[in-house]
Amino acid sequence: MNKTFKVNTISKPLKGAIEIPSDKSISHRAAMIGALTNHTVQISNYSQGADCRSTLKVLQSLGVDIQYKSENTLFLNAQNGLKESNNILDMGNSGTTTRFMTGILAGQNFYSVIVGDESLTKRPMARVIKPLKLMGAKIWARDNDTKLPMSVIGTELNAIHYQSPIASAQVKSALLLAGLFANGKTVIEEPFKSRDHTERMLSYLEANIEINNNIVSIEKSKLAAKPISVPGDISSAAFFMVAASIIKDSDIILKNVGLNTTRTGIIDVLKQMGADITILNNRLECGEEVGDIQIKYAELKGIKITKDLIPSIIDEIPIIAVAASQANGETIVEGAEDLRHKESDRIAAVCSELAKMGVELEEKPDGFIVQGANKLKGDCTLETYHDHRIAMSAYIAGLIANKPIGINGFEWVNISFPEFLDKFEQLTN
Ligand code: S3P
Repeated sequence: MNKTFKVNTISKPLKGAIEIPSDKSISHRAAMIGALTNHTVQISNYSQGADCRSTLKVLQSLGVDIQYKSENTLFLNAQNGLKESNNILDMGNSGTTTRFMTGILAGQNFYSVIVGDESLTKRPMARVIKPLKLMGAKIWARDNDTKLPMSVIGTELNAIHYQSPIASAQVKSALLLAGLFANGKTVIEEPFKSRDHTERMLSYLEANIEINNNIVSIEKSKLAAKPISVPGDISSAAFFMVAASIIKDSDIILKNVGLNTTRTGIIDVLKQMGADITILNNRLECGEEVGDIQIKYAELKGIKITKDLIPSIIDEIPIIAVAASQANGETIVEGAEDLRHKESDRIAAVCSELAKMGVELEEKPDGFIVQGANKLKGDCTLETYHDHRIAMSAYIAGLIANKPIGINGFEWVNISFPEFLDKFEQLTN
């Protein structure tokens, strides 16, 4: 069992520039879509997080050869396509790997068994199983086809026109990847546009894909084997953006951050709260916008965040709650009920843990209301609920508390951002 991790109150501003490590979402896609090219693909700046390693391990079990050129540049050789694994496929903690691979495996001509860790085993899988079954997929899963473990007998798939009840990039991507193997044109419509990295990568690799706002369609495609370079993760950058905004006199630059507009909701939200943010060196790489972000300390004010904004900040809401605790006035988050199905129930986790630090919060079924301008109390121990984003949000809250705090399960940070503490140190030296 790991010890409680201690966080001390920070005594100086954050200063300097850091490179933000690789985007988890894009790394997953680079590996899984790269494996469908039937060629060798070079991926640069692949994520070092445990989730993205789970994706590589699963692909290796399916016969893909992976050679490292350096710590984060790899060659993925999928010349022989995917083949049946002798073992169960362990997705670890990764919902993205699970849902994407379910879509891919549904259209292969072999049998697969998918398992995950304790937290992943509790997460809903019907959202991908149901539409995949409409395409003809043969899938069996625990609890009436809702949870892992799951088995998939690959079969011939037929295209569907699917109106997704939720804006979920994982659902959309599972269907797009299944659509690559289906007869006919698979069409997916979402209520709001979720992150579009899958569409961008498939377009970059020359798939037969059409994109029209919230409607995407795909047909069987021969993918081009082009090198893929992964930008830095804006969801990781978000922790530094909030920290610099709430720690007096801070002034930092976050370099090489993905700025795809389906992910930049955190910038819009913080700017609306009064944050001082400037984008520098905007450019396009492998179909994705990339740039540097400068953030300086600023006085924040509370705002209302509504359902339409949620997909673009879906992973940033815990850290937005920390920013809201320091803002003048009330911040309302609504329409975020899907947060209850992430690595933890993030609505419950945010409310219970920030309350321990004296923050006034009201939990709602689909979000919460935070009363701002709190002086955070230390001398308490926060839980992380097996959730990397709760761990990092707790750390930032700890930096501005009046006394040190403890965090149980801080090591979950390694799921997406093993470099987190090193990067912080670079900004405080
Ligand atoms: C992800 C999509 C989001 C997000 C998750 C990563 C992706 O999930 O929360 O961390 O890479 O497509 P949903 O699509 O379920 O909202």
